[in-house]
Amino acid sequence: MIVRQTESLFYTLLNNEWMGSSSGETVQIYSPDDHEVVGEVPALSQEEVAVAIQKTADAQELWAAKEVYERSALLHRWAEELEKMTDEIGEMIHKEVGKTFSAGKSEVERTAQLIRYTAEEGLRTHGSFIQGDAFPGATKKTKAIVQKVPHGVVLAISPFNYPVNLAASKIAPALITGNTVIFKPATQGAISGLLMIKALVKAGLPEGVVNVVTGRGSVIGDFIVSHPLINMITFTGGTATGQHIAKKASMIPVVLELGGKDSAIVLEDADLNKAAKEIVSGALSYSGQRCTAIKRVMVVNSVADELIEKVKELVSKLTVGKSHEDASVTPLIDQKSADFVTSLIEDAQTKGATVVLEGIKEKNLLGPTLLDHVTEEMAVAWEEQFGPVLPFIRVENELEAIALEKRNQYGLQASVFTRNLENAFAISDKLNVGTVQVNGKTSRGPDHFPFLGVKNSGQGVQGIGRSIDSMLRDKMLVLNL
Ligand code: NAP
Ligand code: G3P
Repeated sequence: MIVRQTESLFYTLLNNEWMGSSSGETVQIYSPDDHEVVGEVPALSQEEVAVAIQKTADAQELWAAKEVYERSALLHRWAEELEKMTDEIGEMIHKEVGKTFSAGKSEVERTAQLIRYTAEEGLRTHGSFIQGDAFPGATKKTKAIVQKVPHGVVLAISPFNYPVNLAASKIAPALITGNTVIFKPATQGAISGLLMIKALVKAGLPEGVVNVVTGRGSVIGDFIVSHPLINMITFTGGTATGQHIAKKASMIPVVLELGGKDSAIVLEDADLNKAAKEIVSGALSYSGQRCTAIKRVMVVNSVADELIEKVKELVSKLTVGKSHEDASVTPLIDQKSADFVTSLIEDAQTKGATVVLEGIKEKNLLGPTLLDHVTEEMAVAWEEQFGPVLPFIRVENELEAIALEKRNQYGLQASVFTRNLENAFAISDKLNVGTVQVNGKTSRGPDHFPFLGVKNSGQGVQGIGRSIDSMLRDKMLVLNL
């Protein structure tokens, strides 16, 4: 099974054959750590993408006709093969997207568990039966079988920050339900995605059931998204890209998991030690490059000084450096992202924010920066920074925090820190987000929990069971006896 043509070029998978683009064109992938070329992947042309989509469509009927337990068995084998490649793929995730090696391995292990759970959950997805006589005028002679059938060809598009987990969380539910898949990995992370698919091929993937299209989303994206043979799109990535895709894709179901500006609301009666610990790991793990990262803190005045001091103390102990040095805060995915974070810090300073802790700035490696006295006029109060800067907004009370949250364009998650659970429920009722975490950081998972964003954070629901549902549609069979 040749996956590489040369030391650096990784083939893509078309109809169970590993191949390059006929033009020989490739996209190079650079390491966020040392800006060296990690490898390259084929830059497919629209013609080659069209062939891949056609092959995926051709394979769908046969795949859907397979018994569910056979599809489930393939997923179980995939999880096993993936686990055997934990070090290899963990290493590539580390090189490609700048996670530490251990975080890369954890992502692979988490993904194997997700695939296993999907293989089991998919066995328990059923249709329903409805009798006609519940509606006035209809009789028992009218009986309906509500079947659950696959959409057909699913386009799965993943982001850079979870090149394996947020790809498999789409591909596994699509496969178990009888869909075939066109997989468009993020360019930064594409090799990790290809190695994940290598494990699936080793597990016995039938020809054409999954095809991988590599190349820049800005080049081939629109062509794929608007292709008539695509029956469903599941996308995770930035809000602007997601909105663009939603406009391009017509008349098909589209699930979007987009950006976030998750707030931590800290009340007077909160356990401040716990809040500080959760805020630091929630805001700075993977240098803040998580859609669910805590991206602003709204703290009531009476405990603001104490909380910020505790956060500062914890953050000062974090190591800043390269991911191969196993540092806690590591280089951002690229210079453009680092420049954006720096611009938010400068904007806030110009408008009067207090710099409690200033992080180093070495190319795309930024140390954590803590900003106090952040006001609504500052972009960092609203923009998704996707980096290690944490703004603190002081509020009079929870009503002010709720009012600010109402103006948040994003609606992924929020955290509320308080010892008063009744109040936590009351506040949660007023927050328009997908998930409210009480006394814990904002995060996706465990992976069988529903995961969703509202407003500019997305549409549709993920989380294993709900992802499986999103891959199916109703088909009615009505018996008129
Ligand atoms: P991105 O720039 O939006 O890219 C996401 C994916 O879309 C990549 O595979 C990209 O390919 C592809 N793409 C780009 N333009 C496209 C087009 N016109 N048509 C089709 N596909 C296209 O996002 P990212 O930088 O990878 O990820 C970071 C963002 O994702 C953040 O905003 C973060 O909040 C969000 N995110 C959300 C969640 C969630 O679950 N809500 C999870 C993770 C990340 P290329 O890489 O080749 O450009
Ligand atoms: O940004 C990825 C998103 O899905 C977050 O996942 O598990 O880091 O909260 P997690």
